[in-house]
Amino acid sequence: MSRDSFGSRMGALLAMAGSAVGLGNLWRFPYLVGENGGAAFIIIYIILSFMICLPIFISEFVIGRRSQKNAYAAFRDLSGGSAWRWIGLFTIIVPLIVLSYYSVIGGWSIEYLLKSFTFSFSGEESQSVMNTMFTSFVSSTWAPLLAHTGFLLVTTLIVMIGIKDGIEKFSKVMMPLLFFIVIAIAVYSVTLPGAKAGLDYLFTPDFSKIDAKACAAALGQAFFSLSLGFGTIMTYASYVDKKENIMTQSTATAASDLMFALIAGVAIMPAVFAFGINPQAGPGLVFETLPYVFGQMPAGGVVAILFFIALLVAALTSSISMLEVAVAYLVEEKNFSRTMACIVLFIFCWVVGAVCSLSFGPLSDVRISGGNLFDFFDNLSSNILMTLGSLFTVLFVGWRLKKTDVYDEFTNGGDISRNAKLFGVLWFLIRYICPVAIIVIFVTGLI
Ligand code: PFF
Repeated sequence: MSRDSFGSRMGALLAMAGSAVGLGNLWRFPYLVGENGGAAFIIIYIILSFMICLPIFISEFVIGRRSQKNAYAAFRDLSGGSAWRWIGLFTIIVPLIVLSYYSVIGGWSIEYLLKSFTFSFSGEESQSVMNTMFTSFVSSTWAPLLAHTGFLLVTTLIVMIGIKDGIEKFSKVMMPLLFFIVIAIAVYSVTLPGAKAGLDYLFTPDFSKIDAKACAAALGQAFFSLSLGFGTIMTYASYVDKKENIMTQSTATAASDLMFALIAGVAIMPAVFAFGINPQAGPGLVFETLPYVFGQMPAGGVVAILFFIALLVAALTSSISMLEVAVAYLVEEKNFSRTMACIVLFIFCWVVGAVCSLSFGPLSDVRISGGNLFDFFDNLSSNILMTLGSLFTVLFVGWRLKKTDVYDEFTNGGDISRNAKLFGVLWFLIRYICPVAIIVIFVTGLI
């Protein structure tokens, strides 16, 4: 049977952008920008994204498209059957862990979408009502578990349908919708009285805040945002046509991810500041602060519905990319049918996710290095495992693959002359700059 693949250039691009654009863009980027020097941080973020992350993205693209295999087989075959294949296996397991807890948050966005349909946020006098609403929801046993099950089920069903008819079709419909919604909210948000304070928070440059920690934060965010080190880009790239231009596709994905993050910032921060609230990051921002803001603003009920649709869609297009990595492995290496692979992985992620979900309630006494199990999985995967995955990827491409093979894949056999001209710089970045930068940032983040 021939291997499934993306049916069009746009489809492949939107699927990759779908993987990149996720919760990270909506709930962490705007806050990080505001706290770390506004436009100064954005400049650092752009430089790091294009100097460090883009070469890593291209490295994953090269591995995936050259091998046209799942991540495990890609490392195995391209290295001539050496121990590198264990790195492939590593990049398959990490996204499964992330998917497990990502699905818990995806479940929360389903719950909040349902709440927004019943206008549950309107007219509350104080933000503490929203805090209590959120805390009592996540610390309960069954409701978040049910929501997690629903989110994971939708993810699994889309992946079960396949690449062209499932992942690609879904991304092609949902990504434009997602952009449209966030742009609409941004336009509305900047017209609110007092919105300027939010724009100042985001865009006033303060270079005194740029230190090693801020750079580490920028790079860590860029990694997570571009789904690097998880085997996802590699796996999606393995379904991309050999005629496509790797440089163009990679740059377009990175650019749309960045653009979405900036628009998300403009959608969220002016609204938050217009109501005199101090922003926070993460779940607190989207499930406590924003519902309160929606409850206060004119037409906030509609904005809330749109926002939680966007949050859910952004989470789904990312979660399907995480699941596909392991599905491809089980189908191609272990002879599972696609349906069976999806069912087995659903069970695995459901169980790990359930533990994460319960760690806010019945299992909240189980602590690992000060945090609950959810924090543990989140820190482990997004700070440590993801960075290691990226490091191994660039080392593999820069030091294990043959330069001529990388050149061949990157330039489509020498046909794309612009890529041929860029190759010298790219090769230098992949071989030297990226590994050193990753190690420095990794160590800085640990200290
Ligand atoms: N890039 C996604 C985000 O910004 O939320 C998260 C993500 C997706 C991480 C896919 C890893 C992955 F494989």
